[in-house]
Amino acid sequence: MTRCPFHPAAHDQEGKLIPPRPKGRAKRASALVKLMFGRTNLFSALNDKLYRGWLGESNLLVHKAFLVNQPDLVRKVLVDEVMDYPKSPVMRRALEPLLGRSVFLTNGALWQRQRRMIDPAFVGGKVRQVFGVMRECADDMAARFEQAATGEPVEIDPEMTHVTADVIFRTLFSVPIAQQDAQQVFEAFGRYQRAAPFASLRSLLGLGSVKRNSAFDTAGKDIRALLLPFIERRQAEIEAGTAPDDLATGILTTADPETGHRFDAEEMLDQVAIFFLAGHETSATALTWALYLIAMDADVQARMRTEAREVLGDRPIEFADLRQLSFTRDVFREAMRLYPPVPFFVRRATKASVMRDRKIPVGSSVILAPWYLQRHERLWENPHRFDPDRWASENGKERARDAYIPFSIGARVCPGAAFALQEGVIILAELMRRFSFEPVAGHEPVPVMQVTLRAGNGVLLKLRKLDEETA
Ligand code: HEM
Repeated sequence: MTRCPFHPAAHDQEGKLIPPRPKGRAKRASALVKLMFGRTNLFSALNDKLYRGWLGESNLLVHKAFLVNQPDLVRKVLVDEVMDYPKSPVMRRALEPLLGRSVFLTNGALWQRQRRMIDPAFVGGKVRQVFGVMRECADDMAARFEQAATGEPVEIDPEMTHVTADVIFRTLFSVPIAQQDAQQVFEAFGRYQRAAPFASLRSLLGLGSVKRNSAFDTAGKDIRALLLPFIERRQAEIEAGTAPDDLATGILTTADPETGHRFDAEEMLDQVAIFFLAGHETSATALTWALYLIAMDADVQARMRTEAREVLGDRPIEFADLRQLSFTRDVFREAMRLYPPVPFFVRRATKASVMRDRKIPVGSSVILAPWYLQRHERLWENPHRFDPDRWASENGKERARDAYIPFSIGARVCPGAAFALQEGVIILAELMRRFSFEPVAGHEPVPVMQVTLRAGNGVLLKLRKLDEETA
């Protein structure tokens, strides 16, 4: 992955943290060259003007693409006229070997039917049911961190990937990631992510086809082959009346209220693959950036620790604690504002329309960009500042309603949003009460667009066990 120029971390006049962000492109020509040749960091091809603009337009290579960055237009595409802006076929072709016809890729009536069968598994009460599993995973993570807490730099990203994969595996199949067959799935996902080809502007704009590579396709097929036995076993348990009450059982036993249809093994495989991919990669990204920001801001870290200790003491976390961990939640939300795990997503216009006096022809790509909307310089006060307290301000409350879309909005909103928020708060609170985090001098994480918004050079932090520190 090419490194792009970036603004390093700094402090503003009020001493508040401005974390690192990529510098947009300076010259059109160089962006075009990068666009045409090779795999480049998407950010280096975009323009910093987008932090202030309402509608970006690109006419590269006859294909029209529009970056929609104005709250009412974002609503038009994602909420009011959602069926006129389906998912782009380019993304579907790239992801099909792993995801088949998963809810993430489908459109129209098939997608609507899939959502009717999946959504019941994610309603409030169901998310509450998985609280205990999330707590177990957070405890196991803390035990691993105890081994790593030597004061030496630790790679945070793989740790967060491990714990979130554990959460999704245990909630789906009641199996810990440490079990050998689950471990194999986890490793195959690692290979898949490393081989992912869609990090360029060309793929975002939907220009031509996304070039798949054989490592990517093979890893996708391997994952499916490894997941299938879990599903078949579960179907047998459901028939025998011995199935555990988890996410997989919930989805496999839910009939579409309109047609009575239930997922067969192949259809379920498509859905399980996306739950695993969307459900751990995104959460891991969000938590990794959150820990980096917390490590960089000693005041925020101290306040989180006080909150965790006051609310939890040294007993296990309970569901009722979540409401009281409000500062922890605000830090997590702020991390997803500055570093949204899905910074861009694309739709295809199937109906001609006009936005800000510009014609949007049928076939254009319409790009939604949490990265730019959530840092919009005309909408947010101090948009590039890390400020978890903003959510209590008038500006923060207003923007939370119209310019904060880390989980998207509308009918295609992420079904796992409540799940991810619950998981994030549990993990952060558990870490804050037991460990301290410090940045590593000279190591600056640089955001790059991979499957999600990762730090291209990783996030390295030093961690210490608090008991030892205070002893
Ligand atoms: C911090 C964590 C997460 C973030 C930031 C996130 C973000 C998103 C976003 C932005 C989308 C919309 C993408 C698009 O329309 O192109 C999405 C869709 C989706 N997410 Fe999440 N997600 C997270 C966690 C999860 C979890 C935990 C699950 C499941 C367990 C999940 C399952 C899905 C599925 C199935 C879709 C497709 C929905 C559809 O197209 O109808 N996500 N997510």
